Amino acid sequence: MRRYSRITGTGSYLPPRRLTNADLVAELAAQGVETSDEWIVERTGIRARHFAAPGVYSSDLGAEAAKNALAAAGVDAKDIDLIIVATSTPDMVFPSTAAILQHKLGIAGCPVFDVQAVCSGFVYALTVADAMIQTGSASKALVIGAEVFSRILDFKDRTTCVLFGDGAGAVVLEASDTPGLLSSDLHADGKHVGILCVPGHVSGGKVLGDPLLKMDGQAVFKLAVGVLEDAARAALAKAGKTEADIDWLVPHQANIRIMQSTAKRLKLPMSKVVVTVDQHGNTSAASIPLALDSAVRAGQVKKGETLMLEGVGGGFTWGAVLLTL
Ligand code: ACO
Repeated sequence: MRRYSRITGTGSYLPPRRLTNADLVAELAAQGVETSDEWIVERTGIRARHFAAPGVYSSDLGAEAAKNALAAAGVDAKDIDLIIVATSTPDMVFPSTAAILQHKLGIAGCPVFDVQAVCSGFVYALTVADAMIQTGSASKALVIGAEVFSRILDFKDRTTCVLFGDGAGAVVLEASDTPGLLSSDLHADGKHVGILCVPGHVSGGKVLGDPLLKMDGQAVFKLAVGVLEDAARAALAKAGKTEADIDWLVPHQANIRIMQSTAKRLKLPMSKVVVTVDQHGNTSAASIPLALDSAVRAGQVKKGETLMLEGVGGGFTWGAVLLTL
């Protein structure tokens, strides 16, 4: 009998400090940076975001999200046999955030590693975990997206610092006789490195280059809409499905306008799109599992429904996963 993977529980965690646009506008004004609630809402759909306190890392947020996903799945942490963390804001250069998180869950022994695909990280990580479950390398995986993007924001650059937030989302992915994950379509094109990056690196005990996020917003926007449509269509074709089979689109939460354009191209009404960017901002690799868990807990997305998860981010990377919850 063919072996599949299936999500059996979702969880998420947001750090308690919540800043509305008004809070952020006031903080930025105190530093001489001018922006407004109107501009942020109109161009992005964002109304609030959460920022982690100093000393709180991606592994802390990810561990809390993982505990919530384990509880939802009814799985004991000691039975987990694979942990993959998607993050672009790791706790350390090494070891992996997944190793630190594993210890925070009080377990040891299973393989753990990070995936670095920026905002596409969660769909990449889910695809890898699915492959490992299908081939019998794992049976009960934790797949986590966790970020503290506030650490890499340039709060003097109003074109980027208003867009991002911190948070984590997680799923428990288990081996199953019935599908689960139906198809996946992943891509990258490294020629676009410069339009969205944190160019600094550590060398000789110093940070060389700029360790803060740089983005050409309009270039990102144009690329994002096209590749998200292509990836979603490719994932549908691989599974022998059409747009009509999608109950919910769970896109990377970067910007409401990107989501609206993608939904329109896929002929999906916005009532079938899970939107949390208004409350979370862009949490990069955490945004898709955070949105998924919010929708599950709100009773919006239900077991048995067909979901299209899709992400796009620095690299450029992009991809989609079609699944039955
Ligand atoms: N407050 C007020 N004014 C601002 C702000 C701000 N925070 N930021 C920029 N502006 C001004 C600019 O200076 C510019 O002023 P000017 O016309 O006097 O020069 C004006 O607003 C328009 O700027 P644009 O950059 O043209 O604004 P645009 O409509 O393109 O919106 C945005 C910018 C929201 C970044 C948009 O390009 C976008 O959504 N891009 C997609 C990028 C994205 O979402 N990235 C997230 C990370 S990538 C990912 O996750 C896939």
